[in-house]
Amino acid sequence: MRISVIGCGYLGAVHAACMAELGHDVVGLDVDEDKIAKLAAGVAPFHEPGFDAVLKRGVESGRLGFTTDPAAIADAEIHFIAVGTPQLSGRLGADMSYVAQAVRTIIEHAEPGTERPVLVAGKSTVPVGTAQLISDEFDGSGKNLVLAWNPEFLREGYAVKDTLHPDRIVYGLPDDVAKGEAAREVLNQCYATMLEAETPLVVANYPTAELVKVAANSFLATKISFINAMADLCDATGGDVTRLAEAIGYDDRIGPKFLQAGIGFGGGCLPKDIRAFMARAGELGVDEALTFLREVDTINLRRRDHAVRLAEEVVGGSLSGKKIAVLGITFKPDTDDLRDSPALDIASKLWAAGADLAIVDPAAGDKLRERRPDLRVPETLEEAVTDADAVMILTQWRDFVDLDPTSIRDLVAAPNIIDGRNVLDPKRWSDAGWNYYGMGRGVSIW
Ligand code: UDX
Repeated sequence: MRISVIGCGYLGAVHAACMAELGHDVVGLDVDEDKIAKLAAGVAPFHEPGFDAVLKRGVESGRLGFTTDPAAIADAEIHFIAVGTPQLSGRLGADMSYVAQAVRTIIEHAEPGTERPVLVAGKSTVPVGTAQLISDEFDGSGKNLVLAWNPEFLREGYAVKDTLHPDRIVYGLPDDVAKGEAAREVLNQCYATMLEAETPLVVANYPTAELVKVAANSFLATKISFINAMADLCDATGGDVTRLAEAIGYDDRIGPKFLQAGIGFGGGCLPKDIRAFMARAGELGVDEALTFLREVDTINLRRRDHAVRLAEEVVGGSLSGKKIAVLGITFKPDTDDLRDSPALDIASKLWAAGADLAIVDPAAGDKLRERRPDLRVPETLEEAVTDADAVMILTQWRDFVDLDPTSIRDLVAAPNIIDGRNVLDPKRWSDAGWNYYGMGRGVSIW
């Protein structure tokens, strides 16, 4: 099939490359010339395991192209909307201007035939109700365009795998049966490989499909804040939240995933999505339904202050002039994404409190140096920990999880390790002479 993907950020670029991998002819459109030049040359503009190979293969096969010229989307049979919906500055809601622009571009440049409509599939995370508005706009455009909402659930670090082998596919279809069937047929053709592999398919109306995405992210955020709340209880009582999570996770109804307590969630999706969801609930007059998400957000942000306070206590009450080595600055491992990173927020707070920081990260060092020239970002972990009063793991990169405690013991000024992600073995570090501090991990002989 001929496919256009509008918006070549994280979601769009990965989606475009994966659609080419499935054998489709794909053109990715974006206004950012630098990004498009890189993608067109087969060079990934961000760090994502496995993406480089899929991108390169697509570009070399001739099935995958990238452009800033909207006229290039004219003959596509499906247009995917994959632009960003970032949080509005100073407000909870989502900025929908990129979606509106993508819709205008499609109306202007798509060339559907009169017989068969052209499908537009929305992937961006949008406030519920958006799909109907876009569909109405298409109806009034005089062009034979049909909209489906087809949310995407990819995680950074697993984006290629999640796109090619999703847990489920969701189609949000219009209430008009003929249009809905037409949309379903085109999507089935597009995702034929996945459907043949028996990927579960959920077909619903527009609002359900829009809500699925924010509901899933809200649930995940709630799970993380729940376990972080339990970490506070563990801190107050001497319990160990990692054991607690393991024990409750054996219950199938709860499950073991997303129960890792620590410095909380961040990134380009969970925080902004729960806030936009609350804002939308307010507009719909059902804000009470989501007041619990306010608490989820608050618990999450409190984790960052908790980590700063812990560091302060560990180094003797005042951070001023104390040397802190921060290991990991991205919002999670296997990405160079710094958006709403709890690690960066904590580092900024430590810095503001006068700490002498040294930060290392396997993927985001250069980005951080560029963005925050005021922060010190040494090349090596050894340099960062030298003379440190405390070492803090804030992102659980494999290199840090596997770190041999004896290898850096003699470099630090004081052997204090703060495990912001609860990924280290406290006994191993204590046995090597370190003072271990976790997030809700009381000292236990068991
Ligand atoms: C998330 C959703 O998982 C994905 O389905 C959606 O499409 C986009 O948003 P992503 O932002 O890539 O994906 O990251 P995710 O793996 O969900 O992690 C989000 C944050 O939660 C990270 O900061 C991570 O460190 C944190 N987290 C995750 C925890 O603190 N504890 C956990 O147990 C799990």
